[in-house]
Amino acid sequence: MKEQLVAGMGALPGASLQKACRLLVIFCALHLLVTMVYYMAGRDLNIFQYFTENQQSQHDWKNASTTPAAELLACPETSPLLVGPLNVEFSKPVDLEETKKENPAVRDGGRHTPKDCRALQKVALIIPFRHRDEHLKYWLYYLHPILQRQQLDYGVYVINQQDGEETFNRAKLLNVGFAEALKDYDYDCFVFSDVDLIPMDDRNIYKCYSQPRHLSVSMDKFGFRLPYNQYFGGVSALSKEQFQKINGFPNNYWGWGGEDDDIYNRITSRGMSLSRPDAIIGKCRMIHHNRDVKNEPNPQRFDRIAHTKETMNSDGLNSLSYEVVKTEKKPLYTIITVNIGLPKR
Ligand code: BGC
Repeated sequence: MKEQLVAGMGALPGASLQKACRLLVIFCALHLLVTMVYYMAGRDLNIFQYFTENQQSQHDWKNASTTPAAELLACPETSPLLVGPLNVEFSKPVDLEETKKENPAVRDGGRHTPKDCRALQKVALIIPFRHRDEHLKYWLYYLHPILQRQQLDYGVYVINQQDGEETFNRAKLLNVGFAEALKDYDYDCFVFSDVDLIPMDDRNIYKCYSQPRHLSVSMDKFGFRLPYNQYFGGVSALSKEQFQKINGFPNNYWGWGGEDDDIYNRITSRGMSLSRPDAIIGKCRMIHHNRDVKNEPNPQRFDRIAHTKETMNSDGLNSLSYEVVKTEKKPLYTIITVNIGLPKR
């Protein structure tokens, strides 16, 4: 009886243990199966996501302008992408192919449109130019990332004064840039920038304000301060309306100096004032260089500045004449080579 009981007690737990083991194995197998199904489904989902993301960004780079802007929400007043102070230096040469790779969202001709929101302004960046290829490379290298973080719908226009005997004419090239950029796109803001000036803070927004904006207010060349209060040289921004209100810039300042003072006179004589960032946000660096040939200081500048009020109605946008020699849409900028004629003798 005792033996039976022991044997009975031994037989019973043995059978149930076997059953329990079987159940455990089935449970584990099921668990493994379910885990694998989820895992595979998850991977597939991710792969799917990866492809859609990639296709999406390719679509945005190449066809951003075809995305109906009206469907997007307006970009915020202050871009969340800004980083503030920037390290700007010119010791390493710039490779433009690398720069292009680092800025895949910039379209041919140097155009960019934010993909996640509708830009608040359409900005044409106009650069007067002749024989400054190395400086242009630095400008593109630094400015493209900044302008994208500023969430601008922008295009870069390099206005190249045709090589020849003529003296350089910065302000006339800027007028040409205004006229030519408007043929390309419906810009509402124009930033006029020297090719050798780089902002040191991306909070210095390259856009237009209710008054004409002076952006290069704190240049290293001038000890990070204004050389004088009325100074309007370097980088400035005017809306289309502000630019038209002053009849554009003067066409008859050949050689270095004075044209920016004339522009300042135009602005104030039309009842406008200057808007400026503070001296911290407005810091910028100039690339050192020797004086350009055929851009000697203009001896007539003092006399001309004294007569802006009388000359501005007949000298400007309404008297602008030039001939486009060639337009090229490069991967990071549009370059327009122009014949702007000779000074009136
Ligand atoms: C010239 C300006 C120049 C400024 C600073 C003035 O005398 O007229 O054109 O921007 O000096 O160099």
